[in-house]
Amino acid sequence: MSINIPRGTQDILPGEVEKWHLIERKARELCEKYQYHELRTPIFEHTDLFIRGVGDTTDIVQKEMYTFEDRGGRSITLRPEGTAPVVRSFVEKKMFGYPNQPVKLYYLGPMFRYERPQAGRFRQFVQFGAEALGSNDPAIDAEVISLAMNLYKELGLKKLKLVVNSLGDKASRNAHREALINHFQPRIGEFCRDCQNRLEKNPLRILDCKQDHDHELMKSAPSIIDYLNDESKAYFEKLQQYLTQLNISFEVDPNLVRGLDYYNHTAFEIMSNAEGFGAITTLCGGGRYNGLAEDIGGPDTPGIGFALSIERLLAALDAESIQLDLKEGIDCYLAYLGEEAKDYTVGLLQNLRMAGFSAERDYLDRKIKAQFKAADRLKARYVAVLGKEELKNNKINVKNMSTGEQVEVELGSFVQYFQGLKL
Ligand code: HAM
Repeated sequence: MSINIPRGTQDILPGEVEKWHLIERKARELCEKYQYHELRTPIFEHTDLFIRGVGDTTDIVQKEMYTFEDRGGRSITLRPEGTAPVVRSFVEKKMFGYPNQPVKLYYLGPMFRYERPQAGRFRQFVQFGAEALGSNDPAIDAEVISLAMNLYKELGLKKLKLVVNSLGDKASRNAHREALINHFQPRIGEFCRDCQNRLEKNPLRILDCKQDHDHELMKSAPSIIDYLNDESKAYFEKLQQYLTQLNISFEVDPNLVRGLDYYNHTAFEIMSNAEGFGAITTLCGGGRYNGLAEDIGGPDTPGIGFALSIERLLAALDAESIQLDLKEGIDCYLAYLGEEAKDYTVGLLQNLRMAGFSAERDYLDRKIKAQFKAADRLKARYVAVLGKEELKNNKINVKNMSTGEQVEVELGSFVQYFQGLKL
């Protein structure tokens, strides 16, 4: 019996992987412009990091983590997200002491969640995320949002919707929490077991429940917006002012709560409103997490960030029928006629490649016609043919495949000839 790929994962094959390369390159270039620096953390962490960081009443921690005991008896979890690991590293490596503050970091790598696979929802997916630690200025919230928006825009996406909300500071959240408990308590029996558990521990999570989504009490639940104190309101207003200044349009959605526990003040999501996009339209999510560093055992440090998955970004590009501008084809296909010429191409090919050109040759002893067909398949811009005669005269025939023009080039200046072309 053959073995198949695990559910919710995918092989990204040549032909498709070039899109990933382009997106990854764009993301890195954008981070360079915005001065976010890459941080690579391990794929697995101690399970406690996510229980404390993401929150033990969240779906991620309760249902979706890939957790196992290692041979030393430690509980280990494949990272379901990147923020808690970044903050763990920030605390552990004492980045709060760096002379350059805030510390601006980004990451690009696989995350793992045991979710029910469907379009846009994988068990292994790749997140690109950015985190800024050490600043309480709403201008950096706007910067983080604009970084995510600009990646989408640079790739050509147009049908985007940015939704923002404020979850307020600790005092505002506590007042809202009390109001939520009073709202749900009398009828909590009508809700699922998870929600019943959430009532005391974290009533905000009830609003995020997938099962009780349509219960009438959900719509009439007290909104955080009505419980924001003056400081939180001022913060949220400033953020909106900066977004407007950056020409980023947005909607305020007081029901946006996010699925992770560490948020306060700013919360946001970017969705695709392209027609025909699947049921899951959220492309990117993020927000402020001012207490997280302290929860993980570090000094009280403000933080804000976002994460988006490449899988959903690709789906959004598809939904808007956007073709990425991928460089296709190879610079030169080196064809040969006869044994002697064949041997000679071994070195010639190497010289071309070392000079920076993409080049290929035949390894299946194919006839010249089949070699030309192979060159076509590879979309070669030039085909160089080396035969017995050419070899004797120290020449090689180079054909420009788009114009059909052919020239004879001295074998000794073959590489220089390519260097003179605009490739
Ligand atoms: P999140 O909302 O859980 O937030 O995930 C962020 C993004 O990751 C989603 O908007 C979506 O694009 C992608 N994503 C999540 N789950 C899947 C999945 N199963 N398959 C494909 N894509 C998925 C976080 O992870 C936070 N760490 C974001 C953040 C950073 N907040 C502050 N800083």
